[in-house]
Amino acid sequence: MALLPILRYPDPRLHKKATEVDAVDDGIRKLVADMAETMYEAPGIGLAATQVDVHKRVIVIDVSEDKSKLLALINPEILERDGEQVCEEGCLSVPGVYEKVVRSERVTVRAFDPQGAPFTLEADGLLAVCIQHEVDHLDGKVFVEHLSRLKQSRIKARLAKQARITA
Ligand code: NI
Repeated sequence: MALLPILRYPDPRLHKKATEVDAVDDGIRKLVADMAETMYEAPGIGLAATQVDVHKRVIVIDVSEDKSKLLALINPEILERDGEQVCEEGCLSVPGVYEKVVRSERVTVRAFDPQGAPFTLEADGLLAVCIQHEVDHLDGKVFVEHLSRLKQSRIKARLAKQARITA
């Protein structure tokens, strides 16, 4: 396994739309393992392949307290959405920024697991937020793009300043 570098907003590669995985093979299983290691190390509760500059529809999530419930979704597709919730979100690609975002309360998602088997999952609460946040990444959308333009430009300015200090 290997730790992968995470792209930082506003890197334009975060806006690429990921393509479907054609075959769940050893290459995809290695990607899932590396993404999981990168997510746990960060630490984070979700990571999309887009964030490690791999533009394939793969996400990993673990919202459990003891980090024991790794969920890998390959070619995830949100089939149903219901209700509304507001949750303060953060993102490994937007370090230090936490903002409230309106999302669906419940989602039904269909995906393939790392063995290539299809499954359907009904999620609510934090897991539902996380799935929507990560699927957005695969579509080239970062969570701050749900905020007002003014907030987005403030966040960009703040991150540009941080990058200058750490460069
Ligand atoms: Ni994110």
